Amino acid sequence: MTTVSGILVIGSGAMGRQIGMAAAVAGFTTTVRDVDPDAVTAAETDMRRWLEGRVVKGRLTAAQAADAGERIRFTTELEGPAAGADLVIEAATERLDVKRAIFAELDRLTPPHAVLATNSSTLGSSTVADATGRPDRVCNLHFFNPALVMRAVEIVRNEHTSDETVATVTEVARAMGKTPVLLTREIPGFVANRLMAAVREEALALYADGIASFEDIDAAARDALGHPMGPFELMDLVGLDVSYLIRRAAFEQSGDPKDLPHPLLTAKYEAGEFGRKTGKGWYGYA
Ligand code: CAA
Repeated sequence: MTTVSGILVIGSGAMGRQIGMAAAVAGFTTTVRDVDPDAVTAAETDMRRWLEGRVVKGRLTAAQAADAGERIRFTTELEGPAAGADLVIEAATERLDVKRAIFAELDRLTPPHAVLATNSSTLGSSTVADATGRPDRVCNLHFFNPALVMRAVEIVRNEHTSDETVATVTEVARAMGKTPVLLTREIPGFVANRLMAAVREEALALYADGIASFEDIDAAARDALGHPMGPFELMDLVGLDVSYLIRRAAFEQSGDPKDLPHPLLTAKYEAGEFGRKTGKGWYGYA
């Protein structure tokens, strides 16, 4: 098992920045890298605000927050942080060509022992592993939104992933206070998104059939089943674009029409109503 002290996160969007923050709070020396300087600044501002909030809420002492702040750096630079990384977690855009280029570059810039993981929920790591010379050290390490809060992390092996790599990322996930969920092989949607999709597809069908309002379907999920959020609220949180693209990717992999995005989801996607991030999804956000 590789001992991890330095973590590099690629991408400072909603997932990347929170994965980086969780790693820094857990004691890892962390760098969050993005190609876009504005995204880097936004992520850093978000982190300072979040750390201050943790102290105000009594979740961290001022000293713990200051230490976490010291341990994390947001940057556009790649070479230096890559050279110091024992583990890279790629949370860049869900495009295969972009990810393959990133993995090839990481393979060149990181030390040979480093594990290269992807946070992708739609692309199994086998699609990027062969862009590197170390496919045994490549796997999925899939966090959930919001990554600072959600405890589960899916670890998905590709056919080359070594036991040592699984042990390394399992240890890191535990050190971050997460619950590892190990998948023995790649399947579209992994485990949690498949469970979520089952509920979402049923909810969309009930709503499309005029059985109940989407607000009432959400109330049933919350107050009859104890889910923290209803399926429509959850789509707004995750992003209707993300939900749509996950479904589209599942269809492209399986070719099975039952995996196609629901027409109501497609309509929201085409209207650009992506949920919280655009101010409108199923619900409105001022
Ligand atoms: N970022 C960081 N922290 C957040 C947050 C955010 N966006 N939203 C809430 N929190 C924190 C709060 O600070 C608070 O922490 P403390 O108790 O330590 O102070 C805690 O979460 C609870 O927050 P609230 O009391 O404000 O709100 P809540 O109790 O309604 O919880 C929630 C909010 C955690 C989002 C909860 O509603 C929930 O668990 N929802 C379900 C989320 C879910 O299912 N996520 C999985 C999505 S699927 C996915 O991500 C995979 C994929 O591939 C698409």
